[in-house]
Amino acid sequence: MVFFNGDGMLGIISGSGLYEIEGLSTIKSLEVDTQYGKPSGPFLECEYCGRVLYFLPRHGGNHSIPPHKVNYRANIQAMKNLGVERVISVSAVGGLNRDICPGSIVIGDQILDFTKGRTNTFFDGDDVVHVDFTYPYCEEMRMIIMDSAREKGMNVVDGGTYVAVEGPRLETASEIAFYRSIGVDIVGMTAMPEAVLAREAEICYAGIYVVTNYAAGIKEGRLTTNEVVQTMARSQDMVKQLLSEVLSPLDLERTCMCGDALKDARL
Ligand code: HPA
Repeated sequence: MVFFNGDGMLGIISGSGLYEIEGLSTIKSLEVDTQYGKPSGPFLECEYCGRVLYFLPRHGGNHSIPPHKVNYRANIQAMKNLGVERVISVSAVGGLNRDICPGSIVIGDQILDFTKGRTNTFFDGDDVVHVDFTYPYCEEMRMIIMDSAREKGMNVVDGGTYVAVEGPRLETASEIAFYRSIGVDIVGMTAMPEAVLAREAEICYAGIYVVTNYAAGIKEGRLTTNEVVQTMARSQDMVKQLLSEVLSPLDLERTCMCGDALKDARL
């Protein structure tokens, strides 16, 4: 028996090193077009543990789209058009906190946005909207993910501040030292504007972050993309287990405020 997630569907956006999830069987591949252009690739309508969800590799199936060129608006709008109410981003990040070693999973709770020049809103016309972003991740989804992880005795870090950087280059040691000094735990290139666009689209958004490496200057020597991809591959089983645990509680109707995000956002 295959269930749909309540009224709203679940979408997964995956990052570097995660272009498919073993055990996720594709029902069909959907080409979705939006008023913002084409998303990163076809959406895979998949079945996983008896549930239907949408899966989208953010960088394209063959990793041809760098973080600064991802059409974030098209990806989120396409999710919206498909009836997605909740999005989980599964992404690789660098770690700034020595206590959180590579291979760890962090469920992010705050964001600092250091990206530059990305289109970061759906509202760049006459409709002036200032959406609340105090808590950039859906707290209800965070709680569901953390509760599921705890129940299964999984070692998942509850909360962490993500700094979104422009890339595609990696950071300097000084940049990382600065980010550390202002309380950053993890660094990545894609949570912004993805998270805020989801909020503007009134879609819940959560980040399951796999620490693939210690960030620049914390790790000795040169950072390699190979390291990122290999650690991500090694963490697949844990990510898969976590996803399979959260599918069922995420079937419940939303009680958070994300679905109403635009309610008090206009003058
Ligand atoms: N920096 C930025 N993005 C990343 C890193 C990093 O060290 N690792 C994985 N994504």
